[in-house]
Amino acid sequence: MSIDLHTTPSSPPIIELEQIGRVFTRSPVAAERLLSLFGRDPEIPVLRAVRAVDLSVQRGEVLGLVGESGCGKSTLGRIVTGILPASSGKLSYEGQDVQTLTAQEKKRYTLSVQMIFQDPYASLNPRQKVGDILAEPLKVHGLAKGRSQIKERVRDALLEVGLDPAYADRYPHQFSGGQRQRIGIARALIVEPDFLVCDEPIAALDVSIQAQVINLFLELRTRRALTYLFISHDLSVVRHIADRVAIMYLGEIVELAPAADLFASPAHPYTQTLLDQIPSVRNRKRKFHAVKGELPSPLSPPSGCAFHPRCPHATERCRNEAPSLVSIAPGRTASCHLVKESK
Ligand SMILES: Nc1ncnc2c1ncn2[C@@H]1O[C@H](COP(=O)(O)OP(=O)(O)OP(=O)(O)O)[C@@H](O)[C@H]1O
Ligand code: SF4
Ligand SMILES: [Mg+2]
Repeated sequence: MSIDLHTTPSSPPIIELEQIGRVFTRSPVAAERLLSLFGRDPEIPVLRAVRAVDLSVQRGEVLGLVGESGCGKSTLGRIVTGILPASSGKLSYEGQDVQTLTAQEKKRYTLSVQMIFQDPYASLNPRQKVGDILAEPLKVHGLAKGRSQIKERVRDALLEVGLDPAYADRYPHQFSGGQRQRIGIARALIVEPDFLVCDEPIAALDVSIQAQVINLFLELRTRRALTYLFISHDLSVVRHIADRVAIMYLGEIVELAPAADLFASPAHPYTQTLLDQIPSVRNRKRKFHAVKGELPSPLSPPSGCAFHPRCPHATERCRNEAPSLVSIAPGRTASCHLVKESK
């Protein structure tokens, strides 16, 4: 797929993450609270869901973010949209640190970056009619004046995602999974965003419907010059939509490459294993293999390279020393002791 970036080389990325991290700690249980009362420091485990991620998304591109369940994709997506604050690092919107945005700039960022969820049903209020669900962001942000303008915007949004405007009077439970996802997309589009964080938007849909929804994303991208961070646990899903792909493992980006390069010559052993799971010309004669072993707990990540317990190429060095993300070719980075850094 050709990359048509609606930008000039000098314009800043629409979103830039620098050393972004996010930890989760649970609330102390009674015994731990008691220990603190006596001046002792209870050791509450810290879960590092996202670890020092550097990533930028250029205006107009589709960046695929792929990794197994629990590797931190949704956490990263929620940080990008501003729904969840990062614990460390810097998040910039159009070149400006979001911490320093004025109230007006913050509003522009909040509207400009919208999220599409995996399970549209869970994110749609079952007691609200679709028309009211779509009208709500317009009212909250004062984006339309009067009932007739709101009605018109709701009608246009439904038409844009391929739904009958008469559906505005129905409730979410009256729709199929694919239609509900279209309603979720309409709700995001109604505030005229530039950037959609799509978090596994087709994972919950029937296979027969998945291609239709992917096509809708492709159409919308062209029509509205949208930028996407497209999250999936399945590399084959991002294959036809992403310009670049970032591979995430246990909270870190382990490989980033233009999609064509990544699929033609994956550099990181983890990417190679993910790719081997996709039925293709490359491996159709071979037996399907899932990635060996389980994703380790982010509460106690392995020493050295976090992938070493599952890596077929792991050596003693891998067990002791974490590789860093290095440039391996123009526009390509990977973190593995086996890859050759290009200077
Ligand atoms: N609010 C939270 N409180 C505590 N731990 C959390 C919270 N949100 C996420 N986590 C943990 O952070 C890690 C990353 O979770 P995240 O949901 O970002 O992964 P994911 O890659 O999106 O997984 P999936 O493919 O299953 O959606 C997991 O170990 C998860 O249990
Ligand atoms: S650093 Fe070692 S363990 Fe990690 S991916 Fe590379 S070869 Fe495998
Ligand atoms: Mg998720």
